[in-house]
Amino acid sequence: GRCVVAVDGPSGSGKSTVSRRLAAGIGARYLDTGAMYRAITWAVLRSGVDLTDTASVAKVAGEVDLHIGTHPQGYAVSVDGAGVDAEIRGPEVTGAVSAVAAVPAVRELLVARQREMIANAGRMVVEGRDIGSVVAPDADLKVFLTASEAARAARRSAEDAADVAATAADLARRDRLDSTRKVNPLAQAPDAVVLDTTELGIDEVVARLRDLLTE
Ligand code: CDP
Repeated sequence: GRCVVAVDGPSGSGKSTVSRRLAAGIGARYLDTGAMYRAITWAVLRSGVDLTDTASVAKVAGEVDLHIGTHPQGYAVSVDGAGVDAEIRGPEVTGAVSAVAAVPAVRELLVARQREMIANAGRMVVEGRDIGSVVAPDADLKVFLTASEAARAARRSAEDAADVAATAADLARRDRLDSTRKVNPLAQAPDAVVLDTTELGIDEVVARLRDLLTE
């Protein structure tokens, strides 16, 4: 039957890996909402509009044809018919995404799209920053993943083959922007289960979530 799992938390908390594994394990679809904000950001950068010109940013967001797959083992993201899976993970997009994600009209647009996709899916694991608090407040299970700053920076720099100090600085910068923006900041829903993954392996976190789902 229907089942929605909301997984929120900051960068490097293990959200993506855990969410994909959980979805594959329970035969659910998977929605990476961060990839949607990244794809819009890619389109905004391509358009050349000033990131602080929120009206123009919103206009680009509204005109873009954004598609995202929901298969947990390989989902494609496209903008105006072209695949942008690699581009949206690059440093330019990572550096600009928090500013674009803070624009109220962008959030309104993407939250509506996300709710529509959730409504059309049977079972879905949805990953982001505001899923349990805003996008899917009726989710069957809400999880908020955390980890120490050091652990998050270590994981992310290993994934990106990047410098740990530079990665730590980028994560701290995005955490600050994401948790202080006026609309839908990174937030822990009051009924979310909080899991600190600093000392936990991926398999342990996934197993814990599966237990919570069958409880
Ligand atoms: O993978 P990582 O944690 O680095 O980032 P992501 O999940 O791909 O999200 C990228 C950015 O999108 C975040 O830093 C937020 O600014 C924004 N985002 C958001 O505002 N709301 C969401 N539901 C998901 C992402």
